[in-house]
Amino acid sequence: MNLSSADTAPNLAPVITIDGPTASGKGTIAQRVADHLGWHALDSGALYRLTALAVQRSGANLDDESQAAALARQLDVRFESGAVLFQAEDVTHAIRQESIGNLASQVAAWPTVRAALLARQRDFRLAPGLVADGRDMGTVVFPDAPLKIFLDAAVDVRAQRRYKQLNDKGISANLDDLLSDLRDRDARDRGRVHAPLVAAHDAVTIDSSHLGVDQVVQQVLALWSARGPA
Ligand code: DC
Repeated sequence: MNLSSADTAPNLAPVITIDGPTASGKGTIAQRVADHLGWHALDSGALYRLTALAVQRSGANLDDESQAAALARQLDVRFESGAVLFQAEDVTHAIRQESIGNLASQVAAWPTVRAALLARQRDFRLAPGLVADGRDMGTVVFPDAPLKIFLDAAVDVRAQRRYKQLNDKGISANLDDLLSDLRDRDARDRGRVHAPLVAAHDAVTIDSSHLGVDQVVQQVLALWSARGPA
C-alpha cells in the first residue's frame, strides 16, 4: 500500500474510513473497530440526519437548499457516550427513523449542506485515531486516510437486516417497502453530482453479504495491523 501524507504528518491522527451504502453495517463495524483500537468514532450520517431533523422541525420548505445549509452550519449538536443531543434534547432514536434517513439523503445531495458539515467532520480527527463511517469519508473528508474500507452488501440482504433490526425494536415494517426505499436511497446517494457514494480508488472492498459482524471487524483489524507501524 502506498504511504500517504497522513503517514508522514506527525500532528495528524490516523483515520480508518468505512464508506458504503445504507444498512451495510458501517456504523456497527466502525464503532467496534474504534472500541477495539481505543479510538474515536465519527458517524457522519448522524450529522446529515440531524440536518434533516432541523429542516423538518423548522418547517422550512424541503426544496430550500440555502435554508438547509444555514441550519447545517448552526447545528447545535453533542455526541455523549452513545447519545446524540440536539439543542440539549436526546434525539438518538428520533434521527434513526426511516423518514429522517430519507430526508437526510435528500439534503445530503446539496453541495452547500455538504460544505457546511465538512470542517465539523474533520474536527473529529483527534489522537490517538479516528474511525469514520459514511459515504464520502475516504473520497472527500479524509482523502489521506491510511486505510479505507468500502463496505458493501447485496440490497436484499441489507433490507432483511434492516427489517430484523426494526422488528427487534418492536417497530413493524414491510420488507417490500424497505427494499424499495433502500433502492431509492442507493440510487440517490450513488447518482448525486457532489460527493457521490463510490469506493475511493485506494479503498479495500469488503462484501459483507455472507459475513457476520465479528468477521468483518476482524478483517478490518487485520488490514490495519498488516499496514505495519506508521
Ligand atoms: O449512514 P446513514 O444512513 O445514517 O446516512 C443517512 C444519509 O446521509 C444517507 O442516505 C446519505 C447521507 N450521508 C452522506 O451523504 N454522506 C455521508 N458521509 C454520510 C451520510
